[in-house]
Amino acid sequence: MAERVDLAAYGARFTTDPYSVYADLRARGPVHRVRIPHRDDGADCYLIVGYEEARAAFADPRLAKSSAVAGVQLPEEEALGTNLLMADPPQHTRLRKLIAREFTARRVEALRPRIHEITDGLLDAMLAAGDRADLIEAFAFPLPITVICELLGVPDMDRAAFRRMSNDSVAPPTVEVRDSALAEMAAYLDGLIEAKRASADEDLLGALIRTTAEDGDRLSAGELRAMAFLLLVAGHETTVSLIANAVHALLTHPGQLAELRADMSLLDGAVEETLRHEGPVANATYRFTAEPVDIGGTVIPAGAAVIVSLAGADRDPDRFPAPDDFDIHRAAQGHVAFGHGIHFCLGAPLARIEGKIALRSLLERCPDLALDGTPGEWKPGMLMRSRHHLGVRW
Ligand code: HEM
Repeated sequence: MAERVDLAAYGARFTTDPYSVYADLRARGPVHRVRIPHRDDGADCYLIVGYEEARAAFADPRLAKSSAVAGVQLPEEEALGTNLLMADPPQHTRLRKLIAREFTARRVEALRPRIHEITDGLLDAMLAAGDRADLIEAFAFPLPITVICELLGVPDMDRAAFRRMSNDSVAPPTVEVRDSALAEMAAYLDGLIEAKRASADEDLLGALIRTTAEDGDRLSAGELRAMAFLLLVAGHETTVSLIANAVHALLTHPGQLAELRADMSLLDGAVEETLRHEGPVANATYRFTAEPVDIGGTVIPAGAAVIVSLAGADRDPDRFPAPDDFDIHRAAQGHVAFGHGIHFCLGAPLARIEGKIALRSLLERCPDLALDGTPGEWKPGMLMRSRHHLGVRW
């Protein structure tokens, strides 16, 4: 059996500069048997850090999303129910079909005026309040959460409470914090769904609740709660750091920022390069083996958990030359920041539109935008690549 690399042994470097850890590992091979900090279900774990191997793994049906094939249960699934990222066909196909049409590029394009309106309102308030702010608090967080809450139909959510539960579920400092956040989250979502059930709202959550009431085989009560969790958390945690990571990268590369300001047709490139270079999701969610699977010359045994490292794959020098350089002119297409295959991010068109509107509006409204102080620390855990705070002035 392959030698096991203890990721905790990298200490703080694993949080401050995970890319250098993945680069070290990649130099030794594309697939590694690892010990993950805070992972407690006992399954053997493998990490894929090469680009070609990552794409192959995403497309390989032998890497299942259902943890049952490996005889383990994920704490998130136990607490909240099975969501899209924990399901294989045909369950996954059924669940995805229920919401896919709400997130097509065409549907999302129709939201553009409203996203603009929310963006403008947030920037008005931020600029009126002074000459500096935490960009995440004032802008990058409220924009996507407002959009996804409106889309789902939960405009009056207690955002501060939900944000804390969501943070502690996906980037927990300890296992205990995670478990109590998950329990709180389950109770909160049940309350939300119960309150919504009484309404006749025509929004997405209302429609999903009616589907469950009419036909529990199409969407069970547990799947409904898990769906609400996944959509709300995706809206909370990911686009926030797309905006913050892009702003940070541009402010620390003033030459490229000046080029972008002079020619906004470079915006697509800036967003795609941010996704590749410092994407919001560092590592994909778990996959599991029911049988031995050979990836890149390493045989992953049956009953193992597999993590595809997006941060590892998107900085593979065999695919992206000089991968650590941030370069808005490079062809970043083909990056795996949104995953690949049947679980490819459903919210990608929405995240891209939000990211572009946010960046463009911010740069237009703040011609002298600059970093203010040292950027906040990175959140713990392997899943997200997002900062707690990003101080800016203008
Ligand atoms: C820049 C922002 C975002 C990034 C980087 C991102 C990234 C990802 C990634 C990497 C996956 C696949 C994970 C895996 O295969 O293990 C995924 C799946 C998913 N994302 Fe996103 N996401 C973003 C925004 C959003 C938004 C705004 C939504 C809300 C609608 C969303 C909803 C989903 C859903 C529902 C899935 C599961 C799809 C499936 O299993 O079929 N994402 N996302």
